[in-house]
Amino acid sequence: MTDIFDPDGATVVVTGAGNGIGAALARALARRGGRVVVSDLDEAGTSRTVASITADGGEAVAVVGDASSEEGVASLVERARDTYGDIDAWFANAGVDRGRGLEAAEADWDTSIQVNMMAHVRAARLLVPGWVERGRGRFVVTASAAGLLTMLGAPAYSATKHGAVAFAEWLSATYRHRGVVVQAVCPQGVQTSMLAGAGPYQELLGKDTALTPEQVADTVLEALQGDDFYILPHPEVADYYTKRATAPDRWLNGMNRIARTVEDLEGVEDVENKEQK
Ligand SMILES: NC(=O)c1ccc[n+]([C@@H]2O[C@H](COP(=O)([O-])OP(=O)(O)OC[C@H]3O[C@@H](n4cnc5c(N)ncnc54)[C@H](O)[C@@H]3O)[C@@H](O)[C@H]2O)c1
Repeated sequence: MTDIFDPDGATVVVTGAGNGIGAALARALARRGGRVVVSDLDEAGTSRTVASITADGGEAVAVVGDASSEEGVASLVERARDTYGDIDAWFANAGVDRGRGLEAAEADWDTSIQVNMMAHVRAARLLVPGWVERGRGRFVVTASAAGLLTMLGAPAYSATKHGAVAFAEWLSATYRHRGVVVQAVCPQGVQTSMLAGAGPYQELLGKDTALTPEQVADTVLEALQGDDFYILPHPEVADYYTKRATAPDRWLNGMNRIARTVEDLEGVEDVENKEQK
């Protein structure tokens, strides 16, 4: 039987909800009657999201804090429960894209691991036992198409988003029969500040296909009406994923061709910059 999640009257937590996809998701959940805990490190963004929800007649509370550290996750869970009671769904959406190439620093890798991966482990540890007892709960991870494929130029992002998908798979495989539904959202480009900072690869690959955060939120809300593991706002990602699995070397050669194209373009820019100097 298919599990359906109805946000109406439900307590939902959205991390990274001060901006971008998380803010759109929080607003969409509130429009469907959800009581939304809006969490972000960005205080101004958090207030903005809550204000837009309440102006629309929705219900939301702001929790400013780190959704990745053990203490941050614990205090977010506690605040959510104190405000609205048991948590029905957790949208693990906060994410970072740090460092480029092999020059990515230890600190970039560490932050990526904490936010893109360990945040989900820490939240699940606190939520899943209660959900198993109740026989229901929903955990929706905003991973990325980079978690199924790879994002050129961004090794820390790619590796940790693969980790996010792997952990979500493990959760689903382990707890699905106990009523815990896990879903992994894997978009390609989305028009947020993260995409704006993603550099030449996104310029090359993403500019024609980038969705708005609202489009991604709509796809997620639709997917809550079912329990499919993958939520693919860009449906073509399923085809790329199949190609990667069935012809991995061909796939990698194609990726390498793109990397070379960007290298050539950047080489041209370097020469032009030098000439101007
Ligand atoms: N924009 C894209 O092209 C794209 C594509 C695929 C997946 N994603 C994923 O979507 C999610 C949302 O990203 P976005 O595009 O909306 O970017 P964004 O930068 O607009 O929003 C990310 C939010 O997460 C918050 N955040 C970062 N670290 C945090 C922490 N430790 N605790 C609490 N909040 C924290 C930031 O303050 C920010 O408000 C991320 O997980 C990202 O990896 C984005």
